Amino acid sequence: MDSVKLIGTVYLMLFCCYLSLIDVNQFEPSTFTERISWIWPNNIKVNRDVVFDTSEMIRKAGYPVETHVITTEDGYLLTLHRIPGDNGSLPVLLQPGFLATSAIWIFLGKGKGLAYILADHGYDVWLGNFRGNIYSRAHISLSPSNSTFWDFSLNELGIYDLPTMITYITNMRSQPLHTYIGISMGSTCFYIMATEHPEIAQMVKVMISLAPTVFLNHMTSPIQYLFFLKDYKMIMGFFFHKFLLSNFVRSFLIYGSEQNILKDIYVNLFSILFGYDHEQFDYHLLPLILSHFPAGGSFNIGVHYIQLFQSGKFRQYDYGRAKNILIYNSIEPPEYNLTNITIPIALFYGPGDLLDNTMHIRRLYHLLPNVVDIYQVPWRNFNHVDFVVAKDAPKLVYERVLKIMRMENSNNITSIIKDECYALNLYNNGYD
Ligand SMILES: *[C@@H]1O[C@H](CO)[C@@H](O)[C@H](O)[C@H]1NC(C)=O
Ligand SMILES: *[C@@H]1O[C@H](CO)[C@@H](O)[C@H](O)[C@H]1NC(C)=O
Ligand SMILES: *[C@@H]1O[C@H](CO)[C@@H](O)[C@H](O)[C@H]1NC(C)=O
Ligand SMILES: *[C@@H]1O[C@H](CO)[C@@H](O)[C@H](O)[C@H]1NC(C)=O
Repeated sequence: MDSVKLIGTVYLMLFCCYLSLIDVNQFEPSTFTERISWIWPNNIKVNRDVVFDTSEMIRKAGYPVETHVITTEDGYLLTLHRIPGDNGSLPVLLQPGFLATSAIWIFLGKGKGLAYILADHGYDVWLGNFRGNIYSRAHISLSPSNSTFWDFSLNELGIYDLPTMITYITNMRSQPLHTYIGISMGSTCFYIMATEHPEIAQMVKVMISLAPTVFLNHMTSPIQYLFFLKDYKMIMGFFFHKFLLSNFVRSFLIYGSEQNILKDIYVNLFSILFGYDHEQFDYHLLPLILSHFPAGGSFNIGVHYIQLFQSGKFRQYDYGRAKNILIYNSIEPPEYNLTNITIPIALFYGPGDLLDNTMHIRRLYHLLPNVVDIYQVPWRNFNHVDFVVAKDAPKLVYERVLKIMRMENSNNITSIIKDECYALNLYNNGYD
């Protein structure tokens, strides 16, 4: 096994060196179009649709759109996209997963993407972007080329980014956030926020967790075989913070998404890592998806996730014994206390998700004191990314989301949903 790791690492180093010779240019704030066209030879036809950014795509779909830039307590500038509702509308905040952006909520297009569906139902829709992704890669004093900029884990997203976004929205609208919806990392950070800043969690009326990644120790995805890479901080830092975001990689991904061979390789890679569900996957979305994913994040978040996987505990970043004692005053990092989260929470998961499964969800359900819904998406192969890319996501997932949001309105969410869970036989199947 060690020799495999060594060969893998050497290979990765050579690969990175090779690519760095071609072009790994620093990311400057500019439009997507400029960034892409920089590398595109004029004679290659680009599907213009795929190079729009989130707000351009929303405008093109015929919706009003606003962009709000807000500053966190520790100086990061975050972008919120908004499809504004009218004065009486209820605000809802959607948060993306690791390496993703606000664009994931509109991948499926008009009438199908969750952001559009919520806007059609009269909600005031806010789409967040965590620090480090292309829309939130700025700081009042640090440059993204300084490695200090990237020195954050899941913890910072939970204790700085989410409180800043939620207070900004609730202050502007002078009312609580009606619903928070987070997919994958978007829900992980909510749990961190809710345990560390319960006063902010009180501003949220209900939280919907899509494919929550809190407990990971039973994951079956082969992504775990890459976890040894956490020991190669220098290379991986370069890979995450510079290389993955370079125009070269982006262009290569988009270009490949329209070539048959590469297209299959990408889709197979996705299937291997997140779950196999070809029936729900629309190949036409591939160029769009790859022009917005991966979109940046810190390597430390990856390391934090690996620690959650290895320890089986939902706890703060592990800096190693010596530094833990300095920072936490204990050898082991402190756990996030999920039993402290009192707001109503709905848990959604896909049976075909290789990162999440019933064991993780059951454990989460037993720790959270106010779970109002556990929903196993009724599609056998529904995987981690299907929540935002599946053809039938509106029918399989978003209808249920809307139902919970409407019930929250009339304050009788718990009883009705629980009845339905009994009907689905979920509670009887080992949840209680
Ligand atoms: C919404 O409120 C603003 C400010 O209170 C007001 O100027 C505007 O006319 C209102 N719009 C509608 C549609 O009621
Ligand atoms: C990175 O930022 C830190 C903190 O502001 C500063 O001390 C350091 O000199 C910077 N490093 C570089 C290479 O600019
Ligand atoms: C977590 O919080 C609950 C109630 O708020 C408390 O009873 C429990 O002791 C706490 N657990 C830890 C590990 O701190
Ligand atoms: C969790 O709740 C307990 C009891 O209410 C409290 O003592 C503890 O400080 C809380 N923990 C956090 C992290 O807020």
